[in-house]
Amino acid sequence: MHTFLLMVVWAILSGARSDTQQADVETLMDNVVVLRVPSFTGSMVHVPLTCGEAFQNEPVFWKKNGQELNPPLQGNQVQVLVEEMKGGNYTCHLSPSGEYLNHTMILIQLNPDNRTVILENREGGHIHCSAPNYTGFFHCSWKRTALRSDASVVLVKAERFTEDIPCELDADASGVRCQDAHCPYKEEQHRISFTVYIRSHARLETYTKSFYLREIVRPSKLPNLHISDGKVFSWDYPDTWEKPCSFFGLQFEVKLVHSGHPCNSDNQIINITTDTTKYEVGVKTKKYVFCVRAQDKFTRGPWSHWSQCTVNKHNVAC
Ligand SMILES: *[C@@H]1O[C@H](CO)[C@@H](O)[C@H](O)[C@H]1NC(C)=O
Ligand SMILES: *[C@@H]1O[C@H](CO)[C@@H](O)[C@H](O)[C@H]1NC(C)=O
Ligand SMILES: *[C@@H]1O[C@H](CO)[C@@H](O)[C@H](O)[C@H]1NC(C)=O
Ligand SMILES: *[C@@H]1O[C@H](CO)[C@@H](O)[C@H](O)[C@H]1NC(C)=O
Ligand SMILES: *[C@@H]1O[C@H](CO)[C@@H](O)[C@H](O)[C@H]1NC(C)=O
Repeated sequence: MHTFLLMVVWAILSGARSDTQQADVETLMDNVVVLRVPSFTGSMVHVPLTCGEAFQNEPVFWKKNGQELNPPLQGNQVQVLVEEMKGGNYTCHLSPSGEYLNHTMILIQLNPDNRTVILENREGGHIHCSAPNYTGFFHCSWKRTALRSDASVVLVKAERFTEDIPCELDADASGVRCQDAHCPYKEEQHRISFTVYIRSHARLETYTKSFYLREIVRPSKLPNLHISDGKVFSWDYPDTWEKPCSFFGLQFEVKLVHSGHPCNSDNQIINITTDTTKYEVGVKTKKYVFCVRAQDKFTRGPWSHWSQCTVNKHNVAC
């Protein structure tokens, strides 16, 4: 009696366990299927493939990554067994050497997808997004790790609440430019959610970042920095910044550092914040570096890169 009960309990438990180990199979987009597996080692998943309704009555033959399968795989609707990471591009043809009809790319993703290897983690994130103003344009970028330089972008998705935001991949596939067309001047209630699906061979990883535009608006480097009367530095608002300036004010950090030091050095002579686009230097030292950068005065978002002039007595190089 006890043994019987134990066997029932064991059967239920092991049944439950093999259920949770089942991969889920999802269509990511046309011709791309994703298997989500708990671990890349030891997984074995049957994946149904269909060549297409149009080929219902045709003698359909399948290939994987351009190679015939052994034993041969025939039929419009088939199942393939995908072991571990051995996904790939399954193409269907009219005969073993015949016309290409259709294809399905099978990609494998870890679930949870927390052991990523394709993109580098730079400055605390895999994806970096930035915008030069509030017009709704933004740019996101990433860097492939040295071992995965072959990785290619499968899909990019950007959305705010329920609205899709159109994006275009950069030529080097290391970034995208997106344009949010909806009410760029309205107060933002929802974050933008940005996801890139990237694969290296059959391994798929997804990376997501979510943000408000106001968190990523970084003014461009300040242009036209110059000196007049030997002591008054002035500069302009960036061309890409909103006009009129009074509605979208910038504040500036002005810093003098000892010559030979970079602008972000702590070795400073002066460090002040101002709203005006000029600054009169009143220090005795004749050798220093004048640095200035900008930030949105109201959101206190990211700082621009530094603009600088090197002063060596009467020589000023900006
Ligand atoms: C090719 O396959 C895709 C899905 O993998 C399917 O949506 C499409 O209808 C197929 N094409 C034809 C012509 O049947
Ligand atoms: C899969 O193979 C088809 C047919 O050769 C090709 O058009 C498609 O680009 C391939 N897909 C990928 C992701 O390599
Ligand atoms: C990934 O998630 C699993 C399950 O939540 C956890 O056991 C594992 O430690 C995580 N791995 C890393 C590298 O965070
Ligand atoms: C905002 O930045 C975009 C992208 O650099 C630029 O094309 C656009 O002209 C800028 N808007 C304004 C008002 O300058
Ligand atoms: C310089 O001034 C800025 C803005 O006022 C401040 O945030 C920063 O901490 C200061 N830096 C140093 C090194 O004192």
